[in-house]
Amino acid sequence: MQPVLGVLLALAAAFGSGHRSPLNDFQRLRATELLAMPGDPPPPLPEQGTAEQCAQRCASSLACRAFHYDQQSQLCQLLPWTQHSPHIQLQKNIRYDLYQKKGQKVPGSSPTHSAASRFLPSPRNGLEENYCRNPDRDKRGPWCYTLDPSVRHQSCGIKKCEDAVCMTCNGEDYRGTVDHTESGTECQRWDLQHPHKHPYHPNKYPDKGLDDNYCRNPDSSERPWCYTTDPGREREYCRIRICKKRPRPVNVTNGCFRGKGEGYRGRVNVTVSGIPCQRWDSQVPHKHHFLPEKYPCKDLQENYCRNPDGSEAPWCFTSRPTIRIAFCFHIRRCPDEQDAEECYHGHGKYYHGHVSKTRKGITCQPWAAQTPHVPQISPATHPEAHLEENYCRNPDNDSHGPWCYTMDPRTPFDYCAIKPCCEPLPTSLQS
Ligand SMILES: *[C@@H]1O[C@H](CO)[C@@H](O)[C@H](O)[C@H]1NC(C)=O
Ligand SMILES: *[C@@H]1O[C@H](CO)[C@@H](O)[C@H](O)[C@H]1NC(C)=O
Ligand SMILES: *[C@@H]1O[C@H](CO)[C@@H](O)[C@H](O)[C@H]1NC(C)=O
Repeated sequence: MQPVLGVLLALAAAFGSGHRSPLNDFQRLRATELLAMPGDPPPPLPEQGTAEQCAQRCASSLACRAFHYDQQSQLCQLLPWTQHSPHIQLQKNIRYDLYQKKGQKVPGSSPTHSAASRFLPSPRNGLEENYCRNPDRDKRGPWCYTLDPSVRHQSCGIKKCEDAVCMTCNGEDYRGTVDHTESGTECQRWDLQHPHKHPYHPNKYPDKGLDDNYCRNPDSSERPWCYTTDPGREREYCRIRICKKRPRPVNVTNGCFRGKGEGYRGRVNVTVSGIPCQRWDSQVPHKHHFLPEKYPCKDLQENYCRNPDGSEAPWCFTSRPTIRIAFCFHIRRCPDEQDAEECYHGHGKYYHGHVSKTRKGITCQPWAAQTPHVPQISPATHPEAHLEENYCRNPDNDSHGPWCYTMDPRTPFDYCAIKPCCEPLPTSLQS
C-alpha cells in the first residue's frame, strides 16, 4: 500500500464518523508496558493529553504502533513497536495501560513486502502452489502476490482464529474480538461514555470481559451485544458464530446450591414466604424475557427456582401480581460453602464480617497496604469504617454492597460474594 493512501485511509477512518473514538483502533492491556532492548533508539518523550488525544496522535503517525498511557498524570508516550516486534518485552507496570493498534485494520503500518522476492518455495517453508501464506509474519495475516500487474501483493483477509471464536449458551463467556453489530455498525468502547452513557464500566464488572469495544453479554441478554458508535442507535446485537461443541457443563446440584446457584437443578417452586413461583414459560402475571427456549442452558423448567442471570442466588417470578420476583434463599447452601453464610443489611455499611475474597475469588488487598493499588479509602481517611485486615467492607455505602481493593494488579477493586440479609432484586431486573 502506498504511504499516501495509507495516510488518507487513516484520516478517513478518523474523521469518517464524528462519534467514533480514536481509541477504537486500539486494544488495551492494563498495567502493562513494552520494554525495548538497550541499544534500540528510545521512543519519543511522554506528552500530556487524554487517552483519546493520544490515540489520535498515534493514529496519524505512521511510525506509531502503540502507546503507553499513564492515567494518573495523563501522560502518553507514543511507541514505534508492538509486543510482536523483535526484541520487545511485555512487562507488568501498574502505572501504565498499553494501547496497541488493532492489527488487521491499520493501513500502512506493517512492513512492506519490498524485499519479498527472497521468499522462494522450499519443501519446508510451505510456499506451495499459489496458496496464501505468511512467510514474513505480516500481522494482517497470510497474503500472496496477485495476477494483477498493478497490485504486487495483497492480504487474503483470512480471519484470525480468535476472530472465529464461537459462543455457547447465551454467549456470556464469549471473549472474541467481533467489534461490529449485526447491522455492521462499529461498537462503542466499554470504557467510554460516549456517544452512549451506560452503566457497564469495565472496572465495575471485571468478570464480564468488557475489553475494548468487543461484543459481550454482561446482562444476560439473549446474545452478545454492544453499544454502538451511532448516536441514533444505543445498542444492538452482534452476530457471533455458535459453537458446534457442547457448552461447558455447570456444577449441577439438587438439594442445595453452590456459589450463585447457577447449577441448581432442584425442584423448589415457592418463594421463602411460600408464594408459588410463576412458570418460566408463562407471561402471567409478570411479563419477562427469560423464555425457556431462548436460554437453553439455564434449565428454565416448570416454575422452579433458577439463576439464569448471574444473580446472587436462585430466584423466580412470583405468582402474585404485586411481587415480581423473589430469591429462593430457603434453598440451603451446600455444606462445603459454610463460609458464604454471612450476610449484610442495607448496603452493608455496617458489615463487619470476615469474608476477604471478591466474588471472583481474588484475595482482597489489606486496607492499610499501598500495593498493588494505592487506596483512596484507607483506615486514615475512614477511621470509623472498621477497615481491618483485608476484610470486605463498604466504607462509602456503595449500592452494590461490601467490596475491597484486590491483590490482582488488573482489578483495582471488586465486590465480595456476601449476600444481602433481606431480599433485593436479581441483578438483571434492577433499574
Ligand atoms: C464442582 O464442584 C466441586 C466441589 O466443590 C469443585 O471441586 C469443582 O471445581 C467444581 N467444578 C466446576 C466446574 O465448577
Ligand atoms: C411444586 O412442585 C411439586 C412437584 O415437584 C408439585 O407437586 C407442586 O404442585 C408444585 N407447586 C407449585 C406451587 O407449583
Ligand atoms: C446508604 O445509602 C442508602 C441509599 O442511598 C441510604 O438509604 C442509607 O441511609 C445509607 N446508609 C448510610 C449508613 O449512610
